[in-house]
Amino acid sequence: MAEKKFYITTPIYYPSANFHIGHCYTTVIADAIARYKKQHGYDVYFLTGSDEHGLKIQKKALESGVTPQEYVDKIIKDAKDLWKSLKIDYDKFIRTTDDYHVQTVSKIFNKLYEQGDIYKGEYKGLYCTPCESFWTETQLIDGKCPDCLREVSEVKEEAYFFKLSKYQDRLVEYIESHPDFIQPTSRKNEMINNFIKPGLEDLCVSRTSFNWGIPVSFDTKHVVYVWIDALSNYISALGYLSEDDSLFKKFWPADLHIVGKEIVRFHTIIWPALLMALDLPLPKQIFGHGWLVINGGKISKSLGNYKDPRDYIKDYGVDAIRYYLLSEVPFGSDGTFSEELLITRYNTDLANTLGNLVNRTLSMLTKYFDGVIVNSAAETEFDTDLKNVVLKTNELVNNYMDKLEIPEALDSIFNIFRRCNKYIDETMPWQLAKEENKDKLKKVLYNLLEAIRIGAILLSPFLPDTATEILRQLNTSFKTISTISKFGELEEGISINDFKPIFMRVELKNE
Ligand code: MSP
Repeated sequence: MAEKKFYITTPIYYPSANFHIGHCYTTVIADAIARYKKQHGYDVYFLTGSDEHGLKIQKKALESGVTPQEYVDKIIKDAKDLWKSLKIDYDKFIRTTDDYHVQTVSKIFNKLYEQGDIYKGEYKGLYCTPCESFWTETQLIDGKCPDCLREVSEVKEEAYFFKLSKYQDRLVEYIESHPDFIQPTSRKNEMINNFIKPGLEDLCVSRTSFNWGIPVSFDTKHVVYVWIDALSNYISALGYLSEDDSLFKKFWPADLHIVGKEIVRFHTIIWPALLMALDLPLPKQIFGHGWLVINGGKISKSLGNYKDPRDYIKDYGVDAIRYYLLSEVPFGSDGTFSEELLITRYNTDLANTLGNLVNRTLSMLTKYFDGVIVNSAAETEFDTDLKNVVLKTNELVNNYMDKLEIPEALDSIFNIFRRCNKYIDETMPWQLAKEENKDKLKKVLYNLLEAIRIGAILLSPFLPDTATEILRQLNTSFKTISTISKFGELEEGISINDFKPIFMRVELKNE
């Protein structure tokens, strides 16, 4: 049997001072997938990190009167706090300023140079002198620098190039013969038809116009430009070309690189070509997700259209944010973020469907049976359907997760909770209590508690705190995925723990 291992990565983030909810989107998705795989017995390695070199950082540090290293250190501390408050359970956080990464990148660059895949040439570009930045024709605004709107001039600088063009045919052949390599399929077609087939040019992989980067060891006026530096993180993090490469041997090739749509091109063209040049196997899948947009446009600091993600977490709780990010956006497409929508989804799904169900059920158990989990041999005509819905959900979730259809997976879990609420309406436990039909009442409450237990276990990769809290309130020791294939594992005779509503309704400001 193939070893159950799973290596998943997010992109490494630019340490911009303003991480927004869009950045949280990529990371929360990867976290939910990683947790799901762990829950199913995979040996998972989940990597995230930061992409810390380059002219932009160098300039920002200068403006703030600190060294680039001091500048990134501060932001990375904040980023790690943000991931912690979002319950991102990564196995490693790589920084491109980490020594081991710097060494590996240097070795990779030298290796490619020695084998003739990197050569020295001349880079021609449109340069803005005050901003010290190169721009492409398409980045210009009215022919001027997009940052300061001043004139740009065509300049040449000595640079090293990677022979990307050499790998064009192999790339097309690989992508076409591995249909799962680029997902969704629409992105695959875009890469082949719009970028690769029209012809790949060799890629400039060094710069002399700034020095906040990894020096080219044999020509130190050059620093390694972003492509080799950033993309190599996926293998340097595992110890590639280092003394201890056991993680690399175990986990490479990656099972899944999750990336935003604007960087699919780098991950499906430059990255595979670099790996081919290094004679390494290619990742199994690159999934390009869409963007979270606000009012149809980009989330942007200059537009002032977003709050710090930590404020949303403070106002609504971490699982409300995770729920929104995981359920609102069809994976692969763009989705909308708005606080109103967040509140609506929170109230409907979390406070009403789930929170109220758990609270009602535990309250009835307390009222009728002193909080002791009871059962009986009685039956109601609605039991079979409830059990069927509950027992088929695991398979549904697995099918959706195989296709990375996370909103659908989450919805099928919420279907358990919706079915439970309907079951309460159908069986009317308060009526059974009035009629003193204790046996039926016991059965109904047991079925509800067991359905809630199974639902909570399925929910745990997505909303870990909520799942943990429900299982704590139930006081059950059956918390793993191996305990949900049968309906009826929940222990009878034990007392539930103290409980309070998991989600309190939030009033819309203009309600
Ligand atoms: N540093 C590069 C990645 C190098 S990977 C070898 C980078 N960094 S980034 O900070 O700009 O973006 C990190 C991730 O956040 C990307 O996947 C990007 O798509 C994602 N997002 C940034 N804004 C986003 C939204 N508004 N919506 C969804 N994801 C977005 O790119």
